[in-house]
Amino acid sequence: MANSSRAPGRSRRLRTALVVSAAVGLLATAGAVVLPGSASAASTLGASAAERGRYFGTAVAVSRLNDSAYTTILNREFNQVTAENEMKIDALQPNQGQFNYGNGDRLVQHARSQGMLVRGHTLAWHAQQPGWMQNMSGTTLRNAMLNHVTQVATHYRGQIEWWDVVNEAFADGSSGARRDSNLQRTGNDWIEAAFRAARQADPNADLCYNDYNIDNWNDAKTQAVYRMVQDFKNRGVPIDCVGLQSHFTGGSNYPSNYRTTLSSFAALGVDVHITELDIRNAPSDAYRNVVNDCIAVARCKGITVWGIRDSDSWRSSESPLLFNSSGQKKPAYDAVLTALNNGTTPPTGNPTTPPPTGNPTTPPPSSGCTATVTPGQVWGDRYNTSVTVSGASTWSVVVAITAPQKISSTWSGSPTWDSSGNVMTMRSNGSGNTFGFTTMMNGNSSARPQIRSCTAG
Ligand code: G3I
Repeated sequence: MANSSRAPGRSRRLRTALVVSAAVGLLATAGAVVLPGSASAASTLGASAAERGRYFGTAVAVSRLNDSAYTTILNREFNQVTAENEMKIDALQPNQGQFNYGNGDRLVQHARSQGMLVRGHTLAWHAQQPGWMQNMSGTTLRNAMLNHVTQVATHYRGQIEWWDVVNEAFADGSSGARRDSNLQRTGNDWIEAAFRAARQADPNADLCYNDYNIDNWNDAKTQAVYRMVQDFKNRGVPIDCVGLQSHFTGGSNYPSNYRTTLSSFAALGVDVHITELDIRNAPSDAYRNVVNDCIAVARCKGITVWGIRDSDSWRSSESPLLFNSSGQKKPAYDAVLTALNNGTTPPTGNPTTPPPTGNPTTPPPSSGCTATVTPGQVWGDRYNTSVTVSGASTWSVVVAITAPQKISSTWSGSPTWDSSGNVMTMRSNGSGNTFGFTTMMNGNSSARPQIRSCTAG
């Protein structure tokens, strides 16, 4: 079995979190609670997608987090982020052995403060390699690539929902071949080696193969990626998902068989994600079609647009995004929101209980340390929790979650999970004495985490 050796948590926890998601919209932070099936429609992309058991995200340029117009839209509309450039190889390891996590960490911290899910992009890629890596070949390069995968996935363990482990490894055109690159020349097994290293470093992240021009089911490139994923599943290579970048810019159009592509990959037993969506001139019908296609395929977990405003786009001259350069909603935004609101709502538990406001725990049993819970920010579909440990500098804290609630991300500790996925043991990892986590409510908005024990050492 492909995943027999992985920790019990991520895939199952995430699947539940996203398929049976949000009882209420993110706009609950503004005081307006929208229940699934109610007459009111969600008024933001993230809230509406959450009601469909999905996320709606965007690529973020960390430098723009200083732009309040940008962050206002980001925080209001989106519940998932991908670093546009800051987690690429050249950004994270500019000199061999010297890792620079500053900007990537900043994005993760912003996402955490907003309860957003994070997609890691990307561990292994022929492009945006630092100079030292570009000049490598053979075993030296293979080992350097694997070390990068291991170091980065370990650094971000517990904070990344999905990794784009390998990006753009197939050639365009009719060959169906692998793209020639220094990585490919290290041997055809470089992709699976990267996936195995990523799984070992972060057993709880879902691992994706990500590419562009794999949208049209009839294209040789799509078929070639499909065969690779099929082969990986057959041989037990740890792969959980396929990312379709879906850049319908630069002359590539939305194909009418897009839904077939999504459902065909899904039928292999992997999730599918639309990871970098942008569409030249942002036609409403094409954006609407993409949303409808994703909602029609149960394993399509969400949509990420590749930037917020047209002025933020890598192809700004094509005005391909949902907000104009002044930050105003374009017609395509309305089309997307309407399509999300009209989509089928997955079954959820009864979400009518209002979120509690008091301290949710009784004092936990102490064995050399004490764990104190501080409730964090609450959104419509999730909430944050911080736990501060006193009395010991190394510790493990056992936290229990009430199903169907699921922890979707953690920070400042090293988590492991029991077989149910609902009991987390968080161990100190040198990040201090306060750790935290985000919990998806999944229809139960009243339960809160319980501390079962705190053990020193
Ligand atoms: O930050 C520097 C700036 O200091 C310098 O003056 C300037 C001069 O060229 O370059 C700036 O860096 C650029 C960076 O974007 C930030 O704007 C790089 O040159 C430029 O190469 C880089 O482009 C990025 C591109 O990936 C690189 O391959 C785009 O922003 C980014 O949107 C794009 O994203 C890719 C995905 O990762 C993979 N799929 C395709 C997608 C679009 O190409």
